[in-house]
Amino acid sequence: MNVAGRPMRTIWPAADGAAVEIIDQTRLPHAFVVARLGTVEEAAHAIRAMLVRGAPLIGATAAWGVWLALQQDPADANLARAHALLLATRPTAVNLRWALDRCRAHLAPLPPAARIAAARELAMLVCEEDVNLNRGIAAAGLPLLEAIARRKGAGAVVNVLTHCNAGWLATVDVGTATAPIYAAHAAGLKVHVWVDETRPRNQGASLTAWELGQAGVPHTVIADNAGGHLMQHGRVDLVIVGTDRTTATGDVCNKVGTYLKALAAHDNGVPFYVAAPSPSIDWALRDGVREIPIEERDAREVSHLAGRLADGTVATVALLPEGSRAANPAFDVTAARLITGLITERGVCAANAAGLRGLFPEKAG
Ligand code: MRU
Repeated sequence: MNVAGRPMRTIWPAADGAAVEIIDQTRLPHAFVVARLGTVEEAAHAIRAMLVRGAPLIGATAAWGVWLALQQDPADANLARAHALLLATRPTAVNLRWALDRCRAHLAPLPPAARIAAARELAMLVCEEDVNLNRGIAAAGLPLLEAIARRKGAGAVVNVLTHCNAGWLATVDVGTATAPIYAAHAAGLKVHVWVDETRPRNQGASLTAWELGQAGVPHTVIADNAGGHLMQHGRVDLVIVGTDRTTATGDVCNKVGTYLKALAAHDNGVPFYVAAPSPSIDWALRDGVREIPIEERDAREVSHLAGRLADGTVATVALLPEGSRAANPAFDVTAARLITGLITERGVCAANAAGLRGLFPEKAG
């Protein structure tokens, strides 16, 4: 996607061949800063502290992290250490384990001397694949928006609500939930996006709004609590969100607050779709609420807020009364029965075991 009109990805190998560069997402939208990751420890920190975030980008960064580790020492013990270090960074998005297990399976059988080049090649491949998966989601999801535009009639605007950031910043490029939106915008459909601010870290207000703005897609940021009201008044045509982990039965774990949007959509007959690239499907799980680990993040993300002051500096302020405690579960699970469909790279399917099996027969257990 474009930043100030220039095509960019979220992660790429540095020109000197010794490191990886990323867009530091903790600085957006007030500053555009590129950060350099030169070691596996820096890659792990970037994931944990959310300089990079979003399930697919976490996986891609981990693959680059393995390469950084092997550059230092390609022996078996260091491959195992890098796998463990990176896996411990964030618990919920399954793309992390998917990428790391793939790296280990590919690299462990090779002689150590061959591992560095192979790890770099694999990290590049993981990134290219991610972009192609997201293009598949764009193609599969576009007809959903086209059908709404046809139904509403010439000149009508299609209103999409999204939660968190499942845009290109959450992936290597293109995005998942935003992919059909960008495709519709490029095809000349009139699209408008309701962007949930997504407390506590405000990925919607800070990241989704920023990237939609860069792409020229009309959008409006709303408080997280406003979605139900807008749905009751017919101002949302469909919801599209991302996923950090989808079970083999179609339950979806995504940024906290997604579940409440699904309930409101269900109550109001608004279609609720999840953009789910296959690396975010955990084929071993069948009950999302009971089986998916939910990350508990620092309570400070709830009790404090950062923003730009009138003089341009970014400052953090405290929100709570002295002595009040805060809790910060970062994800929730939406049961498959509340989901209209899953938009995958292979097409749209019902959010259930049969639907997923139909598109991914090779994964059927
Ligand atoms: O905590 P984050 O910002 O990593 O959470 C991101 C989300 O919940 C996204 O919706 C999800 O990873 C899908 S990204 C294509």
